Amino acid sequence: MKKQCVLVSGGAGYIGSHTAVELIGAGFDVVIVDNLSNSDRNAVEGVRRITGVEVPFVEADCCDRAAFRKVFEQYEFDSVIHFAASKAVGESVLEPMKYYRNNLTSFMNVIDLMREFGRQNIVFSSSCTVYGEPEKQPVTERTPRKPAESPYGNTKTMCEDILRDSLKAYDGLKGIALRYFNPIGAHPSALIGELPRGVPQNLIPYITQTAAGIRECLSVFGDDYPTPDGSCIRDYIDVVDLARAHVAAIRRMIDGKNKEKYEIFNIGTGRGVSVLELVHRFEEANGVKINYKIVGRRAGDIIAIWADPTLANTELGWKAERSLDETLRAAWAWEKHLRNL
Ligand code: UD1
Repeated sequence: MKKQCVLVSGGAGYIGSHTAVELIGAGFDVVIVDNLSNSDRNAVEGVRRITGVEVPFVEADCCDRAAFRKVFEQYEFDSVIHFAASKAVGESVLEPMKYYRNNLTSFMNVIDLMREFGRQNIVFSSSCTVYGEPEKQPVTERTPRKPAESPYGNTKTMCEDILRDSLKAYDGLKGIALRYFNPIGAHPSALIGELPRGVPQNLIPYITQTAAGIRECLSVFGDDYPTPDGSCIRDYIDVVDLARAHVAAIRRMIDGKNKEKYEIFNIGTGRGVSVLELVHRFEEANGVKINYKIVGRRAGDIIAIWADPTLANTELGWKAERSLDETLRAAWAWEKHLRNL
């Protein structure tokens, strides 16, 4: 039987590179397209080293329709996983047009080209950010979406709507939006992982860089929230587990198991962990001390959110498997690999 091929846009990025590895491990061919605007060619090399496969890589911007069309002309994939997008919440507030132009144009190009070339299955990287500050925990896929707090978040909501409407209108196309909770960790080989540019905005890279001595002190944003220890609560999902959810989503569509043309799944562990708990678990799992101080709240932060992943468990046959300690050890191993520690 002919091998199925998947185009991974943003495949040199953090989640994209891990997904490429898991797809290849599951027997798929993969083509990576990435403009390297917030990623590194070395991630593609990492994917090749882990898998032993010379994965084709095209350096192109999905917003550049002509360049992107060439990828569709050259490769015969039936499925696309669309990661390529800008993702810094703070930057999106300062540069909204960059976010709307980049995240919406690239996504609309994907859908248009898939129609033009008769490609069938699309997975879109959405986010739990679409739920805003939820009234009830854990959130299910039926929890109402809230108006986005940032242009970044709004692009996720808008792309979900673009996908929903397109799938309703166009035959021959089906899609799944995966709403990620907080992806953390790295591949156990320590050959790929998260590569933040400049000062990390997200918690885990800040913790690992503090442990490595690159940052002096982690600022914990607020200990006066209405949570058991006063710090915010999130659902931290291992990036390898998250990558496998994409494989399950693609399989579901290829096997015709999807119940609707458009489906949505929460991808989380179902476990809420506070910032302070995460810091202490990291210290214990890795035997290192993290210098931290409590500072004021960060504007726009959600107090608490964690997933009800039941639908993904039952329908996708997917479950988060790696323990938090394993994940935190992988995150530290990756940081040490990067810094030659
Ligand atoms: C945010 C977005 C999410 C997006 C992700 C990727 C929202 C609600 N969430 O996640 O959709 O995919 O960014 O960029 O918009 N923290 C500290 N000190 C730090 C850094 C973080 O205390 O130096 C705390 C934060 O206050 C928060 C938690 O750690 O409570 C997690 O923060 P972060 O890793 O930035 O992710 P989110 O803000 O949850």
